[in-house]
Amino acid sequence: MDFQGKAVLVTGGASGIGAATVRLFAAAGAQVAIADRNAQAAQALAKELPGAIACGVDVMNPDDCLAMVDTVHKAFGRLDCAFNNAGITEIGPLKGAPVPETHDLPLDVWRQVLGVDLDGVFYCLRAQLPLMLETGGGAIVNTTSLQAHVSYPRTAAYTAAKHGVFGLTKTIAKEYGNRNIRCNAVSPGVVDTPLTNTVINQPEYKDSLLNTIPLGRFAEPEDVAKAVVWLCSDGAGYINGTVLVADGGYLA
Ligand code: NAI
Repeated sequence: MDFQGKAVLVTGGASGIGAATVRLFAAAGAQVAIADRNAQAAQALAKELPGAIACGVDVMNPDDCLAMVDTVHKAFGRLDCAFNNAGITEIGPLKGAPVPETHDLPLDVWRQVLGVDLDGVFYCLRAQLPLMLETGGGAIVNTTSLQAHVSYPRTAAYTAAKHGVFGLTKTIAKEYGNRNIRCNAVSPGVVDTPLTNTVINQPEYKDSLLNTIPLGRFAEPEDVAKAVVWLCSDGAGYINGTVLVADGGYLA
């Protein structure tokens, strides 16, 4: 896949799935903007990749998202592909404490998870779409999760947010498809990243979890990155408003 001359923006680009996607886009010739709350890590990755820039952003803040796209505009003059991927789970705000049942979920945890995972995607889209419209279109991929399809106990906020992202994705596809903007989602299964690795690798948990995955392994961030880059490529030119599930067969 050739992304020479294409300008790409990846949120949550400093770690895990985002960082793997940044690397793949850069290897395919794209100019990549790495946007992340962890500005230092974004800078470090940008230094490794020719033509890449870093951008500190909190996607919960709509003004930050506008400033992020302004940075891309100034640096690259256009935006061809956006991967809205920054995300957290309930476990993040609770810092390792067990997630309580839904009726006991602290309101600030609900607001933080919805704020990053759903509002954040909306704030990014409303900043990105005008630039894509101005420069003739583009391709957008939003990160959902298996929890856009099924749920588990004690994941109310994350499940609600990820279902929301899928709905938002479909709306954008319908609303902007006639102006050459495609919008799709990717649903990763269980991916070994800093978001999940302390949970999924616990010895009492790991084997039973692996047994639910027909391919018998957790995904590597690169497994998801390949799906994202393809969705953004010309090869996926007729794919719009759908979700590509990269879960090793879990949902089958
Ligand atoms: P990760 O923790 O390795 O990377 C997430 C990145 O998002 C980090 O660099 C973090 O600094 C950044 N981030 C978090 N909050 C932010 C904010 N408010 N503003 C800007 N940046 C922020 O996690 P991973 O696993 O790579 O997750 C990426 C996406 O994939 C998330 O949306 C997550 O929900 C989703 N996902 C992950 C799965 C997994 O098993 N790891 C499974 C399904 C979905």
